[in-house]
Amino acid sequence: MTAQPRVAALIVAAGSGVRAGGDTPKQYRHLGGRALVAHAYAAFANHPAVDEVIVVVAPGAEALARDALGAATIVTGGASRRDSVRHGLHHVTARLVLVHDAARPLVPAAVIDRVIAALEEVDGATPMLPVADTLAMDDDELLGEIVPREALVRIQTPQGFRTSVLISAHVHWPEDAEATDDAQMVRRLGGDVRLVQGDTMLDKVTHPEDFAIAEARIAFESRSASGFDVHRLESGEELWLGGVLVPHDKGLSGHSDADVALHALTDALLGTIAAGDIGTHFPPSDPQWKGADSAQFLQHAASLIVERGGRIDFVDLTIICEAPKIGPHRDAMRTRIAALLDLSPDRVSIKATTTERLGFTGRGEGIAAQAVATVSVPRT
Ligand code: CTP
Ligand code: MG
Repeated sequence: MTAQPRVAALIVAAGSGVRAGGDTPKQYRHLGGRALVAHAYAAFANHPAVDEVIVVVAPGAEALARDALGAATIVTGGASRRDSVRHGLHHVTARLVLVHDAARPLVPAAVIDRVIAALEEVDGATPMLPVADTLAMDDDELLGEIVPREALVRIQTPQGFRTSVLISAHVHWPEDAEATDDAQMVRRLGGDVRLVQGDTMLDKVTHPEDFAIAEARIAFESRSASGFDVHRLESGEELWLGGVLVPHDKGLSGHSDADVALHALTDALLGTIAAGDIGTHFPPSDPQWKGADSAQFLQHAASLIVERGGRIDFVDLTIICEAPKIGPHRDAMRTRIAALLDLSPDRVSIKATTTERLGFTGRGEGIAAQAVATVSVPRT
């Protein structure tokens, strides 16, 4: 017999995001490379104390939600936030439930810990923050009475409850009364709700400008990866190197245009997101890549990083050959690679070396290239 799950997270995402505007409801718009709702989902799904996560979505939004959330448990909500919580509660099997707004995408694990810890002693708990601004009444566009702020707090989610207490609060709540959160319902019906320290990371995405604020709060991590490639030099081929055509008596042979420098760089970029290598994405056995411009391989790798909400910080390339001399072409290569990656040229470094006539590069049989890419990607 499996034990009853102790803690469930119920993420309400069935709103229509009217105030945020746009064609797609705010919870499915992208923030840091994934749907807004996917952020809160990941925070709860990855938290060791949370045993089940249920996401409540609007009727008709199931496909959008599936796309954003993969295999998550998705149930259907109602016309108001309160309806959506009530519907979601039918699916909760755990003894404790954390109700959270999908519109608060960035959920610090420490806040989840504080809410759960408080439930050892009380029926409910909610994160809060003190009010910093002066508060006043708006008296018909004139400054009205100042409202003392010392006794006021801003209420956030996730709000935690003993599940039976929250169900009871929803059952007994008057049908015609409005409630913008669950803590006020539990309190009004006699339950104690403990205030615990919240976090500005939990601020709700409500208006269009809130997306940029949330985006700026996403934590990034720096990643570096290397790439390496070799191609054979042969007569009768064009020499494409670093995205430019270099005059030379031989050229590189290979299935595509054989631009060894762009291939090394492509592998370095793919490495930063552990997305395999160039052969994974563009198999040499596939005839469509015969003679292909390697610029498209590089741009594909860059687009995968951008799709994850990442950015390229710096690329460094070393071309290893006896001839041709790279120096005269360095600026053209930097300009071309910077343009392909949408970077400024001072984020593109190109170096070259010979191998003192040693080995295959020294004998002029081939050219090797190695690259290092550094990117920033949202921390998962
Ligand atoms: N919510 C819900 N079901 C509803 C209404 C709201 O699950 N019928 C959810 C929202 O998806 C959101 C949270 O409740 O995660 C807080 O609501 P709010 O910020 O008001 O979101 P929306 O109602 O979507 O936005 P708006 O009021 O601007 O339309
Ligand atoms: Mg709303």
